[in-house]
Amino acid sequence: MADTLITIEDFSYQYALTDTPALKHLNLEIKAGEYVAVMGACAAGKTSLCLTMNGIIPNMMAGGHTGKVTVAGHDTATTPVRELARTVGMVFDNPEFQLSQVSAREEIALGLENTGVPRDEMLRRIKEVLAIVGLTGYEDRSPLAMSGGQQQRLAIAAALAMYPQVLVLDEPTSNLDPIGKEEVFAVAARLNRERGMTIVIVEHEVEVMAAYADRLVVMANGEIVLNDTPRAVLAQVDKLAEYRTRPPQVTEMAYALTQAGRPAPAEWPVTLEQALSVYPPVEAH
Ligand SMILES: Nc1ncnc2c1ncn2[C@@H]1O[C@H](COP(=O)(O)OP(=O)(O)OP(=O)(O)O)[C@@H](O)[C@H]1O
Ligand SMILES: [Mg+2]
Repeated sequence: MADTLITIEDFSYQYALTDTPALKHLNLEIKAGEYVAVMGACAAGKTSLCLTMNGIIPNMMAGGHTGKVTVAGHDTATTPVRELARTVGMVFDNPEFQLSQVSAREEIALGLENTGVPRDEMLRRIKEVLAIVGLTGYEDRSPLAMSGGQQQRLAIAAALAMYPQVLVLDEPTSNLDPIGKEEVFAVAARLNRERGMTIVIVEHEVEVMAAYADRLVVMANGEIVLNDTPRAVLAQVDKLAEYRTRPPQVTEMAYALTQAGRPAPAEWPVTLEQALSVYPPVEAH
């Protein structure tokens, strides 16, 4: 059994001066090496969930919580956020807001300086993480002169330089064009598959998540309402509609065919590959 990296136990959180909790009685475990996708409508609590994983909630926000979050054995409520940052790397939706330095090198060095990594080790890590995200040779490049996809890969590199065990990505592709999106998805998939990096990603691109994620968590109104394999979650077309989350197109198609009188598939397809095995192409004679 893989180690559990993050455990959320009956955790609720209410931001100061609000009337209702943003997170309600959450229970969730993230295991080492997992790729977990989080989906759900606007204001469902996805970002708040991410912020519980690096201790920003409850440590750096005004508000009240009940329950407990444990990250690599540390209770987040009693562990400094800078300590948790060694375990959990975070990347947000807008790369421009995360990047503040004049060059890629300095962007990555920033977090390392704050944790007292020696200069030689810093230079070694900068080279290493730029290679991981496919930005070798970009040391001196200004983030402002990069495409959105490159900027977001640089933000990922900066997070990776701290050697975290988990990378939490909150809608990392929502401000990117299709090529930038693909670049970020490819980096996350490679980190997970080749390096065993644990990935938690809030993402609306359901077709992509159906293919990459080991597990899919759907949130609605501050609760975790579905938590299973993508295939088990995305087959629940009616429930997804209730939670305002769209299933993959192939799942919708299978569902429509079934409603039109075709026999229901034994297992609902959520990727194109699965759809082709449920509805095999007609052989040419
Ligand atoms: N800093 C804050 N102060 C007060 N309320 C907040 C704060 N951040 C979020 N909220 C509220 O908490 C609830 C959950 O918000 P959250 O940002 O976690 O949702 P989300 O699923 O990430 O939404 P989105 O899809 O818009 O990113 C919302 O009702 C939101 O208004
Ligand atoms: Mg959000």
